[in-house]
This record gives sequence, structure tokens and C-alpha cells, in this order.
Amino acid sequence: MAFSLRFPLFSSILLLLLLLTSLSEAKSNPTFHPNGLVLPISKDASTLQYLTSINQRTPLVSVNVVLDLGGQSLWVVDCQKGYKSSSYRHTHCNSSQCHSAPNPSCKNNICSVIIDNTITHTITTGNLGKDVVSIQSTDGSNPGQVVTIPHFLFACAPTFILNGLASGAKGMAGLGQTSISLPTQFATDFKFQKKFAICLSSSTSTAYNGVLFFGDGPYKFLPDIDVSPYLTYTRLYKNPVGSSSSEYFIGVKSIKVNEQVVLLNTKLLSIHKNGHGGTKISTVTPYTVMESSIYKAVTRAFIKGVESRNITRVDAVSPFGICFSTKNMVSTRVGYGVPTIDLVLQNENVAWSIVGINSLVQVSNDVVCLGFLDGGSKPKTSIVIGGYQLENNLLQFDLTKSELGFTSSLSFFQTACPDFNFTSSV
Ligand SMILES: *[C@@H]1O[C@H](CO)[C@@H](O)[C@H](O)[C@H]1NC(C)=O
Ligand SMILES: *[C@@H]1O[C@H](CO)[C@@H](O)[C@H](O)[C@H]1NC(C)=O
Ligand SMILES: *[C@@H]1O[C@H](CO)[C@@H](O)[C@H](O)[C@H]1NC(C)=O
Repeated sequence: MAFSLRFPLFSSILLLLLLLTSLSEAKSNPTFHPNGLVLPISKDASTLQYLTSINQRTPLVSVNVVLDLGGQSLWVVDCQKGYKSSSYRHTHCNSSQCHSAPNPSCKNNICSVIIDNTITHTITTGNLGKDVVSIQSTDGSNPGQVVTIPHFLFACAPTFILNGLASGAKGMAGLGQTSISLPTQFATDFKFQKKFAICLSSSTSTAYNGVLFFGDGPYKFLPDIDVSPYLTYTRLYKNPVGSSSSEYFIGVKSIKVNEQVVLLNTKLLSIHKNGHGGTKISTVTPYTVMESSIYKAVTRAFIKGVESRNITRVDAVSPFGICFSTKNMVSTRVGYGVPTIDLVLQNENVAWSIVGINSLVQVSNDVVCLGFLDGGSKPKTSIVIGGYQLENNLLQFDLTKSELGFTSSLSFFQTACPDFNFTSSV
């Protein structure tokens, strides 16, 4: 009995040792240049935040961080206490890294940068440090060899700024338009294209994680479907003002519901000199938020379209404003059959289509709600496309060409974000 219990333990230790040896061999291979890198993305059930995990420091520690699409940097608590690493270094004020960082400041010749908890909108500053980061490469189908960046830049945040993040999170991973965001650093370090792609899962089970790719496609999902040929492209815009300048804006020209153009105050759709207006994409906003007049016009058209299908409205369930009975709703491959909401981009032929699976949220057995929220009459940004509307869509951001590639729902192509094969090929 004792032997049969001990034996599996012994063999799993052996297996672990073998695994560790093969990992360190991969790292020491100086001729290997990855074309892409990959990280899993999970969804936290209580906050609806998306998280990933970064292997950092010497010895390596796995750090959970909240994904922030528009964020400026990787920031992590806390370099003063509880941070044990023999490879940590400060960045000096004089360095090119400090000069190229957004809004750097200087204290005792140590470079410091702005740290933004974009969930609670709390801002502080912290030292710009650098340390080892280790990450799996990919050929687009599976994770492959582990590669190491010896001096990955990140900001050291004070502990209080964690407030509001999912339990277990120790910081945020910024993917924004800056020189120190994750995609820029990885692309610079490994000399691959300054592109990345996110594919968020709708599931909060870690068995169904989504995926974050750094580098160009292919982006393959089971059963062997490369979704990169299905991308439609539109221009990405930068907000000219302050901390918003690292965020990703797209040029929505009009909105259609059920193929009909909704009448809107189109002035709200452009970004103004003061940084207000426009449409941005966010992974830290769980549901799409629209300025009141846009929200009212879109929901009015949606309700009309739904009610013409003999579907009844029911009492709203917070935080949503508009809910329906699922009785009489028809299920399709892309969710309940309800009017499509099209965000029309540079011309009539280019639209980001939001179908039932991304517009309706199941709140109980027989009630679904429209997953859009009223942002009030004077929000800074007119439309914030939130996480729920991004789920099971693959979005590719090209920082060199300032271009967004989007697929709309992957269900159209009979695959989904959790279908990336995370079993390593090495
Ligand atoms: C800044 O850089 C120059 C040249 O690399 C060096 O001589 C100088 O000592 C540096 N200044 C500080 C404050 O580190
Ligand atoms: C509309 O719904 C009602 C109640 O659910 C049902 O009795 C009726 O047959 C439906 N009509 C159509 C045209 O589907
Ligand atoms: C996932 O990848 C592994 C490693 O390449 C492979 O052995 C396995 O068959 C793949 N799984 C599926 C379902 O194709």
C-alpha cells in the first residue's frame, strides 16, 4: 500500500525533473528565434476581468496580471518588499528605455513612469525596472520552446493600487500603443512583426482559456483552422490626449440594426481635440457602454426588431436595461436569432457585426439581456466596446500599420477561442 502510493509520487518527480531539464535546454538554445509567442487568457468569474500569467524573475515566479488592451506597460507589485529576484535592475534616467517610455520622470537617477489601474481609475508612479521574463514561443498551432528575455521592462507598483483587481492578480499587462507595452517589447526583442492578437473566451473555467498571440499569424484553432484569412481590416486611431493615447480607437461611421441605419449624432463618433468622443476597444470594460443618445437609438431599433419576431420584453435585470424572454427565440450557430448590430467602419462594406452570441447575455434559464449599457450623457469616450462583445472574436492589432483585423464571431467558422491547442509541441 505504502509503496504503491509512493511510486506515482516518485515517478512524477522524475517527470518534473525531465521537464525542467528540457526547459533549460530550450532556453540555452541561442540559435532559436521565435516568430511568435503565446499566453493563455482566463476570465475571472466575479470581476469579469481577463487575466494572464507571466513568468518573471530569478528564480522564475508566475505572476497573475489583468489584461489591459490599452494599458501603457506591464506593472507589477512590489519591488520594495516581497519581490525576490537576483536579476532585477533599475532603469536609469539617462537610458534610451527611459527616454522612450511614456511620461517618464526622474528621482535619484532612477526612471519612473505612470502606473494606471484602469479598472478603478487610480493613478500613481513607480520605478521602471527590468527583469527576466520567460514565455512560450508558438508557430500558431501549439506552444513551443520557452524563450527568455533578460531585461524585460516593467513598472514597480505600490501595493495599494491592486485594489479592484481580481483576486490573486498582482498587476496589469498593458498591450497599448507605447514603446514599453508587451507587444512592442516582444517584437523588438525577437525582431518579429509588431502585431498581436487576442481571442477571449466566454468561459470562466480554466479548461476553456482564451489565447493571446504575439507576432503575425497563422492563428490556428482546432480542428486545424487558421483564422487569419478571415480577418477584415480597419484603421486604428490614437487618442491625442494624455493616458488615452495608448488606447485603441476605431472609426465607427454609423451603426446599423437589422440592416437599417440608426439615426445618431455623428459628431459623437469622432475623436475631438480634447480627447473626447470616438469608439475604443477595451478589455477592462465587461460590456459595451454607449453614450446615452446612441444607446437609446440603438436599443430602440433592437427592441423593435426583436418584438417583430414575436419575442416579449421582460423586467430588466441589473446591470442591464433591456431584457427578453427566450420563449419564441430561435437558437442558431451564432446564438439566439436576433437583429444583428453592425458597427459600420470606413465604408458601407466594412462592418463589425455583433450577432446574438455577443449581444445577448443569459441571466437566467428563460431570460436574456442586451449586453450593452447606458454610459450617461457626457462620457469621455462615446462608445467603449467591452469584453463580452469581443469574446470568441479574434482581433489582430498591427502597431506598425495602425490596423485592426477582426473576424466577428468565430462560430461562423465553426471554431472558438478555447480551441487553441495549449498542449506543447516540444
Ligand atoms: C548620462 O549619460 C552620460 C553618457 O552616457 C554619462 O556620462 C552621464 O554620467 C550620465 N548621467 C547620469 C546622471 O547618469
Ligand atoms: C406569438 O407568440 C404567442 C405567445 O407566445 C403565440 O401564441 C403565437 O402563436 C405567436 N405568433 C407567431 C406568429 O409566432
Ligand atoms: C494538440 O497538440 C498536440 C501536440 O502537438 C497533439 O499531440 C495533439 O494531437 C493535439 N490535439 C488535438 C485534439 O489535435
